[in-house]
Formats: sequence, C-alpha cells, structure tokens
Amino acid sequence: MPNPDTVPIAPAGGKLGVLIPGMGAVTTTFIAGLEAIKRGIGKPIGSLTQLGTVRLGKRTEGRSPAIRDFVPLARLEDMEICCWDIFEDNAYEAAVKAGVLEMSLLEQVKEPLEAIKPLPGVFDQQFVKRLHGTHVKTGGTKMEQAEMVMEDIRQFQKRSGVSRMTMIWCGSTEVFHEADAVHATLKDFECGLRQNHPEISPSQIYAYAALKLGIPFANGAPHMTTDMPALLELARQNKVPVCGKDFKSGQTFMKTLVAPGLKSRLLGLQGWFSTNILGNRDGEVLDDPGSFRSKEVTKSSALEHILQGQLYPDLYRDFYHKVRIEYYPPRGDAKEGWDNIDIFGWLGYPMQIKINFLCRDSILAAPLVLDLVLFMDLAQRAGMRGIQEWLSFYFKAPMHAPELYPEHDIFIQLMKLKNTLRWMRGEDLITHLGLEYYD
Ligand SMILES: NC(=O)c1ccc[n+]([C@@H]2O[C@H](COP(=O)([O-])OP(=O)(O)OC[C@H]3O[C@@H](n4cnc5c(N)ncnc54)[C@H](O)[C@@H]3O)[C@@H](O)[C@H]2O)c1
Repeated sequence: MPNPDTVPIAPAGGKLGVLIPGMGAVTTTFIAGLEAIKRGIGKPIGSLTQLGTVRLGKRTEGRSPAIRDFVPLARLEDMEICCWDIFEDNAYEAAVKAGVLEMSLLEQVKEPLEAIKPLPGVFDQQFVKRLHGTHVKTGGTKMEQAEMVMEDIRQFQKRSGVSRMTMIWCGSTEVFHEADAVHATLKDFECGLRQNHPEISPSQIYAYAALKLGIPFANGAPHMTTDMPALLELARQNKVPVCGKDFKSGQTFMKTLVAPGLKSRLLGLQGWFSTNILGNRDGEVLDDPGSFRSKEVTKSSALEHILQGQLYPDLYRDFYHKVRIEYYPPRGDAKEGWDNIDIFGWLGYPMQIKINFLCRDSILAAPLVLDLVLFMDLAQRAGMRGIQEWLSFYFKAPMHAPELYPEHDIFIQLMKLKNTLRWMRGEDLITHLGLEYYD
C-alpha cells in the first residue's frame, strides 16, 4: 500500500541539464570529477547524495538506506553540462589553468572536457573589478542580455535533449551590493532590466533568465543574487526553488563545526581570528575590496547566529570576530587557513584553540555542487518552490524567510536536510527523543 503521507515526486527520467555560469576552478573540478567517477577512476568523496545514508524508523529497525536509493535522484550518467564564462578556454584548458587536479587524471578525461566550451558570459566589470573578460555578450540592454541567456538555454536543451535543468552560479564573487529600489518588485526589476539599471548585476541576469524559464537557481558565491524580493517573487510565481549563498566548504565549515561544540559545553568566547592565504583566481578577485566585502559579510554572520549572544550574555555578548583573506599566488588552490580562538571556561579562566587547515578549496566545493544540483532537481520534481532552507547545510549564509534567523549550526542543518527527505517519503521524522526504548 502506498504511504498516503508521501509527497508526490515526479520521476527522475530523462537527462538533467546542469547550467553553470562561471567555468573556473570549482566548476572544472566538479566536471572532471563527474567524468572520473563515471569511469570508475575516482570516488565521490564529500557528497551526501552519493555516499550518505538516512536512518529510518527506530534504531532497533536497522533501516539506513543510501540517500540515493531513498529519494529519486538523477543519475550521474544522465547529467549534461552547459557553462558560460568570460574567457574562451574549454573545460580541459580551464582545468589545467586552475591547477587543482593532477595532469595524470585530467589526461584521462580530456576528451569530454575539451567538448565543453563555454558560451559567452554576461559581464559588467563594475561587479568584478579584477577581471577583464574577452568572451562576453555585447550590446543590448540588460533585458536583451537576459533574453540571450534564455536563448542559450533553449538551444542547449534542443542540442542535448535534456528534459529538466538546474542552474548553479559558480562564477566570480561580485562586488558587495545591497538590495535597492529596483529589486523591490518583479515589475521594478523588469523595468530596471529594460533601462539598464546599474544596480542589476550579471548574476541577477542569469538568475532571472533561469527563473523565467522555470529552472531552479542555486548561488555558490557570497554576493546577493536572489536574496531580494523581485527574484523571490518570480520564483514563487513560476513555482521554482532557489537557494544560496556561498558554499560552506573550508574555514566557515570548520567554524560551524567548532562553535556549536563550544556552545554545547557553555564555554565562553572572547575572540575568534580567522585568516587564510589563497592564490587562485578566486583569491585574486577577492583581493578587490568590493568583492572581499561580499565574502566578509557571509563569513562573519555564522558565529553570531550560532552562539546567540542575546541568550548567553555571559558567554558570547562581546566576542571579537575578525576574518581576513590574503591573496598569495604561490599557493594556488591549496588554501591554508588559520584560526585562533580565545575561549574561557570555569571561573573565566582563558584557553586557546588553534586550527591550521591545509585544504584544497575546489576539492571541498565540487561535491557540494553535485549535491545541490541533484537536490534542487529533486525539490523541483517534488513541487517545492521559493527558498529551500533545508539546503542551508551547504551554505555560509543560508537564505531564509524574512521573519526567521538563519540556521548555521551544521548538525541542525544536517538533521533538517534528512528530516526533509523523510518527510518527502512519508517516514517518521527523527527527534532523537528515544524514550520509547526505555519504557
Ligand atoms: N571552496 C570554494 O572553492 C568556494 C567556497 C565558497 C564559495 N566559492 C565561490 O565560488 C565561486 C567560484 O570559485 P572558483 O574558485 O571556481 O573561482 P574561479 O575564479 O576559478 O572561477 C570563476 C569563473 O567565473 C568566471 N566569471 C566571472 N564572471 C562571470 C560572468 N559574469 N559570467 C560567466 N563567468 C564569469 C571567471 O572567468 C572564472 O572562470 C567564487 O565566487 C567563489 O567565491 C568557492
């Protein structure tokens, strides 16, 4: 008997188109990884959709299916990629330049990577000061540029025969901007597109094009794209899911692991200083103060929300939090992050924690791209629309309803994500109460 509480989910039949503005380090690491995994020469480490399980029912039942068997997700073999970039390099050339993956691996996936050639990007240097794009759409108003992107998408769909699509922004970080009057309503925004309003960014033009065509949109970068009323109105109107922003991959990931632990033991925080060195193109873009400001804002908000100084004034009211990113070319994508955490315990006695994370930015981000693409497609087929808060797990600054505060604690985020999957399939939500085992 089918469970009457199950959410109707359209099957994942046919091919899934993955639309990616920005084909740099993260995107090429994702695409090369997909090809390597399909050929059995690599494993999807870090991906919840590929390796994660979800416990169902009581602990005594022993039911923990793989997530990909529990909910109908698109298969990796059924994914077709379409990218835009402001430079002409194909995915193989861009991956070589990004310098994340070893040549011995790239050579084995050279053919499919070479076949992915980016379409000319929508670009405005006012929003990414450090790049001088040469492969860009020229002429026309911002509305006409959005129409060009829509036409690109239609042509890709025709060429590849995909039945569904999802878009994920993996382009450079745009300069910090806050929502303006032009972002207030869809009508204002469309009027702004026609009048080339300077406050409408390229990422918003891609997002508009996607949402207009009923395609889900996820934002992997820290700038505001869909965090504004006009595009949320369009998402609701066209029944499309959106989520963002800024992949939670490295230092903030560590922060959201450690901070909930300190809070759980009621250990106080006096200060948290985070710095890192990074030498890839992302680092170069973030060397511009406007782009860095976008990152600073998303990186800074997690601690305040997790520690809730208003509820715990003795512990977290006045801590000092500073975040730095230093562009240092010799390191390329192999970022190194340092955290110095000044904490205090019983009777206020001070202690220190030091974290030195020698990570690889794109290796950490690629599985998040995969999961987001698959979960956004699932959300669309399950009839979910607007902000997908259950995907907060993946972001430094999760989008949320205006009356709520964002949930940053990674353990709560994971529980929320898995409970959403249980809810979709009509399974009991897991509260971890557990009293029934001791009756
Ligand atoms: N761990 C991570 O790597 C990580 C974590 C969080 C967020 N991010 C964000 O993800 C994004 C991608 O990171 P990356 O390391 O791949 O950066 P990258 O610089 O290697 O790649 C970005 C690409 O976007 C292209 N681009 C810029 N503006 C564009 C436009 N308007 N249209 C089309 N293409 C455009 C650039 O030419 C470049 O190839 C950045 O915004 C970064 O801040 C990355």
